[in-house]
Amino acid sequence: MSPFNRKDFIKTILGGGLASFLNIPFANKLLDSSFSESQPKSLSELETDEEWERIRELFPLQKSISYFNTAGLGSSPISVLNSLHQHLINSEIKSSEDRNDLLKLKKNLGDFIGAEPQDLAFTRNTTEGINIVARELSFKKGDEIVSTSHEHVGGASPWIMLEKEMGIKVKLVELDLTGQENYELIRSQINSKTKLVCISHVCCTTGMILPVKQISEYCKSQNIPLCVDGAQASGLIPINIKELDVDFYVSCGHKWLFGPKGTGFIFVNKRVLPLLKPLFAGAYSDKSFDLIDHQLEFEDQISRLEYGTRNWPLIHGLNEALNFHRNIGFEGEVKRNQELAEYFKRQLQSIESIEILSPSRKEFSSSIVTFRMAGIDYKKLWTILLETYKHRLRAIYENRLNGLRVSIAIYNNKKQIDQLIKDLNEIAKQL
Ligand SMILES: Cc1ncc(COP(=O)(O)O)c(C=O)c1O
Repeated sequence: MSPFNRKDFIKTILGGGLASFLNIPFANKLLDSSFSESQPKSLSELETDEEWERIRELFPLQKSISYFNTAGLGSSPISVLNSLHQHLINSEIKSSEDRNDLLKLKKNLGDFIGAEPQDLAFTRNTTEGINIVARELSFKKGDEIVSTSHEHVGGASPWIMLEKEMGIKVKLVELDLTGQENYELIRSQINSKTKLVCISHVCCTTGMILPVKQISEYCKSQNIPLCVDGAQASGLIPINIKELDVDFYVSCGHKWLFGPKGTGFIFVNKRVLPLLKPLFAGAYSDKSFDLIDHQLEFEDQISRLEYGTRNWPLIHGLNEALNFHRNIGFEGEVKRNQELAEYFKRQLQSIESIEILSPSRKEFSSSIVTFRMAGIDYKKLWTILLETYKHRLRAIYENRLNGLRVSIAIYNNKKQIDQLIKDLNEIAKQL
C-alpha cells in the first residue's frame, strides 16, 4: 500500500472524514447536512428554557465555557460556516472572484439595516469604516471633531491620529451613565468649528444606547455630518439608517450579527458622497480608466471602496448570518436578550459589593451589562471568572471604568446567568 494514498486523503478532506481528520467534535455537525439545514423554530414558538438552550446547539461554541463576550466577537452558527465553506470551495472550483451577487447581498443587508444597497460598501471591519471617513473627508488644522470618551480604540484612534498628524481637535464628551443627559452633553460641544460628530450607536463600555436620532436632527440643522459607529448596534438592536438619517454608519458582521470574522460595511448618505475624496484607486473603483491616456474617473457610488480582489465568500457568510437572524425572528432575539439582561441586572443588584455601570432605563439599555466589584481588581476578577468558574466576560478598561462586561446573546440562557450570579456571590463573600 502506498504510504500516501492521495485518493483517500482527498476523500478525507472533502467527505465526512473531515471531522475526524480535524478532530473537532462540532465538525461532525458541520458536515451533517440534516443538522445544518435544520433551522430552529421561530423564536416566538420557543417556550421552555430547554427549547431555548437548544439554540446553542446551532453554534459551534464550546460547552465547557459560558461565553458572555458577543460584544467582543460573536460566534457564527453552523449554517453560516456551511455557507462560507461552500462559497470558498466554489470559488476555488471556478477559480474566479464572484462579484455577480454583490448587489443582491447588499440588498439583503440594506433590508436588515434600513439602507439602499447603492449606499453600502462592504469592508473588513468597523475600524476600516471609521478610517475611510477620517481619510476621505478633508480636515485641516483647527477643525473640531466631537466624539465621546466611551469610544472603542477602533472608533477613536483614527481621529487621534489626525489630531497628531495635522492638528485637528478631538473633543471628548464625558457621557452620563444613566443615559438621560447625553443628548444635551453632546449637543453642547458642537459649535461653528465642528466639522464632524462621531459617536457610537451603542457604547462598547456599558452597552448604553446613545440618542442618535436626536443628534442627527441637530447635526442636520447645523449642517455638520454625523458618523455613527454601529459596531455594537448591528444585530443587537433594530437599526433603521433611513430613519436615523445619519451621514455615515459603519459596522461589522463579526459581533452580534454572527457573521464571519473580517466582515463589515459602511453606509454613506448620498448627500455627503461628493465630500469624499477617494483614498484608494484600483479595479472596480473606476467609472473609466485608460492607462495609455493617463485617464481615471472614479465610480460615483460608494462601491468604489470595494477595489481589487476580495474574499467574497466571507460576505456570503455574512449574508447567511442575516438569513439566520430572519429565520429565527430578529425581534424575538432582541426581546429575549433584553429580558435575560434585565434578569441578570436584578440579581446583580442583590450583591452588595457590585456596582452596575450600565443604564437602568429601558430606552438606553441593551443586553450588554457592565459592572464592577469593590475590593478586587477587575483584571483579577476577569481571570478568576474565566479560569476557575469558566465564564468568559470582557474586561472594560475603556474610559478607565475598570469593570467587567457581560454580553447576552441568544446562545446564553438562564442557567448560565444563574451560575454566573452564584459564582460572583461566592467570590464576593471571600473578599
Ligand atoms: C464601538 C466599537 N467600535 C469599533 C470596534 C472595532 O471593531 P472592528 O473589530 O470591527 O474593527 C469595536 C469592537 O469591539 C467597538 O465595540
